[in-house]
Parts: sequence; C-alpha cells; structure tokens
Amino acid sequence: MLKANIEITALAPDVLRLRVCRSVGRDSVEPHPERSEASGASISGRAETVRDARSARASFVGKWGSTKSHPARQLALTTTAGKFSLTHRTGAWTLHDRTGLEIFRCTSFAVAGGHPQLTLRLADGESIFGLGESTGPLNKRGLIREFWNADVLGHASCIHPSLRNLYVSIPFALSLREGRAGGIFWDNPARQTWDIGCTEPGEFRLCAATGPLDLYLFLGPTPADVVARFTGLTGRMPLPPRWALGYQQSRYSYASRAELERIAREFRRRKIPCDALHLDIHHMDGHRVFTFGKSFPRPREMLAKLARRGFKTVAIVDPGVKDDARFSVLKRGIAQRAFVKAPGGKRDFIGKVWPGKSRFPDFLNPRVRRWWAEEQASFQRLGLAGIWNDMNEPALYDTPNKTLPDSCVHQVGRDSVEPHIERSEASGASISAGAHSARDARFPRASLVGKWGSTESHPTAAVATPHSTVHNLYGSAMAAASREGALLAAPNKRPFILTRSGYAGIQRHAAVWTGDNSSTWEHLAESVPMLLNLSISGVAFCGADVGGFLDNCTGELLARWTQLAAFTPFFRNHANIGSRRQEPWGFGPKVESLCRDAITLRYQMLPYLECLFAEAHRTGVPIMRPLLWHHPNDPKAVACEDQFLLGESLLVAPILRPGATARSVYLPRGLWFDFWGGGMFEGGQHIVAEAVAEHVPVFVRAGAVVPTTTPRQFLTSERDATVNLHVWPHGRSSFTWHEDDGETLGYERGEISTRQIEFSDRGTNRELVLGAASGAFASRVQTWRVVVRAAHRACRVWVNGERIESAFDPTLGVVLFEVPNSPEPLRVKWL
Ligand code: GLC
Repeated sequence: MLKANIEITALAPDVLRLRVCRSVGRDSVEPHPERSEASGASISGRAETVRDARSARASFVGKWGSTKSHPARQLALTTTAGKFSLTHRTGAWTLHDRTGLEIFRCTSFAVAGGHPQLTLRLADGESIFGLGESTGPLNKRGLIREFWNADVLGHASCIHPSLRNLYVSIPFALSLREGRAGGIFWDNPARQTWDIGCTEPGEFRLCAATGPLDLYLFLGPTPADVVARFTGLTGRMPLPPRWALGYQQSRYSYASRAELERIAREFRRRKIPCDALHLDIHHMDGHRVFTFGKSFPRPREMLAKLARRGFKTVAIVDPGVKDDARFSVLKRGIAQRAFVKAPGGKRDFIGKVWPGKSRFPDFLNPRVRRWWAEEQASFQRLGLAGIWNDMNEPALYDTPNKTLPDSCVHQVGRDSVEPHIERSEASGASISAGAHSARDARFPRASLVGKWGSTESHPTAAVATPHSTVHNLYGSAMAAASREGALLAAPNKRPFILTRSGYAGIQRHAAVWTGDNSSTWEHLAESVPMLLNLSISGVAFCGADVGGFLDNCTGELLARWTQLAAFTPFFRNHANIGSRRQEPWGFGPKVESLCRDAITLRYQMLPYLECLFAEAHRTGVPIMRPLLWHHPNDPKAVACEDQFLLGESLLVAPILRPGATARSVYLPRGLWFDFWGGGMFEGGQHIVAEAVAEHVPVFVRAGAVVPTTTPRQFLTSERDATVNLHVWPHGRSSFTWHEDDGETLGYERGEISTRQIEFSDRGTNRELVLGAASGAFASRVQTWRVVVRAAHRACRVWVNGERIESAFDPTLGVVLFEVPNSPEPLRVKWL
C-alpha cells in the first residue's frame, strides 16, 4: 500500500507531472503547498480532483486529462497523447502512448527512510541519453551517474573510469525504445543517484538523498518533441550576442595588460579571426572578485582600446569573496547579510578557495542575487562584454566534501521566476509562430531557484534551508545573478555569461563549458558525447576547452580540436597555467594555418549558426545533435557517438586519433555529399573518409541549403549585404532564416527578420522558395548569391518567372547566380 499523497497533473497531453507529497490522514484535504506556483497559475478552470480513500489523496489537475478512479485499486489518467495508470497497493505505475506502446513502467515508487526513489523497467534495446554533463559513452545505459555538482580536475573517463558526477546536474533522461522517444525529469536539486541498468541490467533505479519526489514525464514521440517540452518547462536559451558565436581565446592566465594586448595584436597581425579574450584569475587584485590588480593598470582604457580592435573582454568571477575586513565587496556583503551561514545558521560560513579564506554569497536568496548583480554591474561598466562564472559548484579546498558542508544554511527565496526570464519567455512567444509556444508559455516552470523550502504559510519570505537540499542549484543561481548584473550594466544588451556549474534550466542564464578537460586525444573524443548529452539536456550553447585545459597540447591535437570545435556551439581555446602555450600560433606555421582555416570557416558559417541559435531559442532544439536526433529508428545512428550533426544538414566526423589517415564514417539513410567537394554517397552504410590534414570529414545531406557569408576578423552588428545560399541537389529541406541586430534585446520585441526557406529537387526541376519576410527588423540582405553545388552543367534560372543570368564553373562543379532580395516571396527555379 502506498502511503502518500500522489498528485498527477497533465500539464499538456504529452507532459505529466507526478508528485508524491507529504502523507496526510485519510480524508484530509490540505491545500497543496505548491498549487499556485506549480499548477494553479497556468492551468485553471477545469481542475479535477480524485481523492483516494485509502492513500489519502490523488488529484488530477489539468484540462487535458480525463480520469477514472477505482479508489481501492487503480488511478488512471488518459490524455489524447497517452495513458498513465497507478496501482495503489504497490505504487507501481505505467505510462503508455496513445497507440498502447509502453513508454515507462515503474515497478516501485516510494519514499523510504527519507529517500525518495523509484525503479523503472528498462526494455530490451532501450537507450538512455541526456543526464546533462557526464563523462563516458553517449548512451548511459549500464552506468551509474550521480547528480552532485563537483569540481573534478581532469575528468576524462580514461583517468576516472567510474566517475559519476561533474560540475552540472540535469536529472533528465531521454529514453529511446525502438525509435520512440520518451523523457523523464526529476526536479530535485539534492544529491541523486541513477543506476541505469548497472547493478540490475533491466532496472533503472533513481534515488535521491532528500528532497521531493517530483517527476515530469514526456511522451514524445520524437526526441525533438521530448526536448521541446523539457525546454518549454525549464526554459530556453536567450539569444547571445552575435560576437559570442565567434572564436574566443583564453588562458589561465593572461597575467598583465601588456600580455593581453600582445595576444590581441597577434590575432590581428596573423589574420586569425577572434572575437573575445578571457581574463582568468590573475587580473584580480589578490583574487578579490570585481577588481583589477596592478598588472592591469587603467582597465577602462585597456578595455576600450581592445574594443576598438574588435575584442570583447570576458572576465572570470568566482563566488568566493575574500575574507579581508578591508575589502569593500566583503564589507558591503556583510552589511547586506549576503553570505551562506555556517551550520547552526548564526555565523557566516568561511572556507578556503583561490583568495584564501572566503565567504560565499547565498545566491538562492533573490535579495542577494540583486546585491551581487549590482556589484557585478559596476565592474562590468568598466567595459567588460561578458562574465565567466567559475568554481560555482561551489568548489572549496578545505572541507571534506570540497564544497559547502551539507548543513550550511541558505535563505531560499520563493520568487521562482526572475523578471528577465519572464521577459525572454514572452519573447519566445513573439519570435515564434510555432505550435508549442502558446502552450509552453502557460507551463509552470520547473527547476527554478527557490521552490524547495517548505514555505506554504509565508509565500514571499526566504526560508532557512540546508545546503544539501539545494546544492545543485548554487551554480545556476549564481549565473542568474550574473545575468541580472549584465542587464543592470547594459539594460538593452544581450548578456554573455559562461558558467561551469548549473542545474536543469541553466540555459536561461548562461552558456556552459565542460570544465577542466585535458590535452589528450581521449578527451578530444570524449568531448563529443559530452556536448551531445548536454545539448539533449536543454543546454544548446555549450563547448569544451579547445586544445584541452590540463597538460601540454601538441600541434596535431590543437589542429584537430580546432577543426572539430569550429562546429560546436561555444568555441573557446583555454589552457592551464604552466602548460605549453596553446594560442593557434603556438605550434609553428603549419598548425597556425590549419587553425586559421578552421576558425575562418566558422566565420563563413555564421549565418547558418545564427539560424540554428535562433531555432534553439525558439524551440529548444539543440544546435549540435546526435545522429539519433534525426534517425531514431536507425540502430547504427543511435549507437554513433563519434560523429554529430550541426543542425539537420551537416554531419561532422572529427578526427580523434593522432596520425589518422582515414576514418570510418556512418552515413544515415539518404544521399550525402562530401562538404569539401568530393562526391556523393549513398547513406545507410559506413564509408571510409580520408583524414587529410586540412580539415575533418564533413558531409551534407542531399537537398540541404546552407547560408554562409564572407568571413571577417571579428563580428559587429554590421552584416554583409550578400548572403550565399549553398544548395545541394537530390533532396529537399526547409529552415527558418533569421536575422536581427545581433546585439540588443530588440529580438524580444519582435525586431527580427525571418522567412521560411525551402528547397526541393524534383529531377530536373529545382525550386528554391524564400517565403515572405516577417518581423520588425529590416533585413540587411541585398543579394542572395545562390551556389548550386555538385552541378554538372549550366542551367537556366528564373526568379518569380523572370529569367536571370547564371554562370557554370566546371572546375568547382557549381552554378552561380544572384537573386536581388525582396521581402516578398521569391520563387527561384532552375533547369
Ligand atoms: C578552474 C577552471 C579553469 C580556470 C581555473 C583558474 O580550474 O575550471 O577554467 O582556468 O580554475 O581560474
């Protein structure tokens, strides 16, 4: 007999929320502590409650469900997308889709000894993806993973084969059974352990140390459906400033103004495109946050000078505030009662990290986030374009668990939705005409800062909460404060925040990089499944330290890494103190030229990337995708973890071994073209691709349209008047063109220009249709230069029925023609 309150809510036909609440007496109907936050506000009216006489209460709230209750035996909730049923006696439940296919079968569901837990049956051949940031294979089946944010130095699985947790915790899994996707998200930021068929091959056991048993179940049926709903719930990435899509250079540390300026000069002199330089901890005055030390005189002038050369400067900000009685930030923090309390709740907790003894802002308290935002804003107004949040698990040196002790005390605020988030949510609706937006906007938001206190009687007060129950939120809360700070400093500019730590929904606040990897081939290879799973988990804007952080890179490794990372969403080279210099010119002219070419290609691909970022912002679809995303029914594609898709059109097969002269590439069903011009291949098979030094193998899906531009040395809001549309034959495709000013929050107010671009190839008749442009941003495109790839002969071309000139280049195998832009639909045909 399940002795608990169970509430099942249909948030949408394909999204159910299942919670076990505090057990209450037989007939008592207590108001649900989180009703208004979770369900009431967004799903009103037709709430229906079914009370179960024996296990207190099970209620169904939601207009999408119809319920049947046999109080003694079973509860069932049916929506148009599926059916959930729970047996009271055992607490077991199942979720089936509308065709009767089982999505999840839970065999045990309980809070035992204070630990909420459940066991799901793993079906034969079921694969499990997502889980945020973790090492090891793409498919997590057979592994144990934990959610407990930690600072792990050198985390490649070849170094730590049984490593279970990293800096970011996202307790979300995408399950794939015979091509059909479902999802589960356990919204609980305390420590969780997921045994995914490791101990018992057919069992997926999920257990938390404490906190609520609060699950969201997603019915799919495609990976895109699941992730759209998951990100509809936890939020989507706001658009970053355009420059943040460019190449970024970092080192621990550029230790003086002279060194930083020298690096900037080298990039321009060597004509290697670069947009941002990162300042690691040596810029500070004795590791005091928000300061510049003596080696960085006149920072405002320095930052302005760099900005004039097109460099945006990003400074690191760690949470530890040096416990120095004369330090103004500390003094103000103490006056604000801003710091996490030691166990007992009276004195501020003091622990050691980079600055020595430090105090830690209680970011879970909205009042403290505001204070931090103000401190950061004054710092940023010196001219910093971005903020890099590090050590925000938080990492400590001198405590046994290397983070805040479990019983440190936070004042957890209840304002779960920060104003900026609401604003971007609103824009999500306006930027997109997509079917999901309206419903998503009404979703209650999960994984928000500050809903874990037992605050039913004082909804606005902050509540004393032990660290152990909110640990995984600390990094996200710091990133939220940081975003707030950036918006205070420049209210109409898109913030760029980079974070090491986070929880589900971190994409609303920051980009994520995967922390301290190593300059090894193993780590290069591991970065692919790591970034793919982060992407599946909602974090579209992610990347790994290019070249590897720890140890010494080699020229070949740097070249191969740069060639891979040019296709990843976040693109930053970073290296550890004492390691060999890792700037693109650090290994001689040959490697420099390979890196320059890879980085330059990134800048050429910018329009394609911008469209993908806009799509991720609108729908939550990842920028970097595993093959299974578009081929969930193909077991070979599902198993593939050393290749990835950038958007739907490009398949990247990086070179992951030293000295490789070729590699095997799996091409899913359909026709594929060698991106570099080497011919067409039938998919559904492995092929051998040559591993030339100049680039990694990349393939393009037949029928793809890839927009590119003339590469620049750095990005400004200025755009090229000519956009190239590369079109590959023998297929069809469709995507949304997106343009905006790249800088301001205007996109949230509809200042964008979008249009649907569709291509179809019916034998000899090829048609490219640019739908009518919409949105309040005046497109900067004057000319579409169409580049028909894999062409064997000249063609005749018509635009809206009028014949135009074209040129055939037999050596390159391309047909070229120019179409003057117009906001009206453009129908381009060629024979
Ligand atoms: C941490 C970060 C790393 C940074 C270093 C010094 O190890 O992960 O990126 O360079 O601290 O701040």
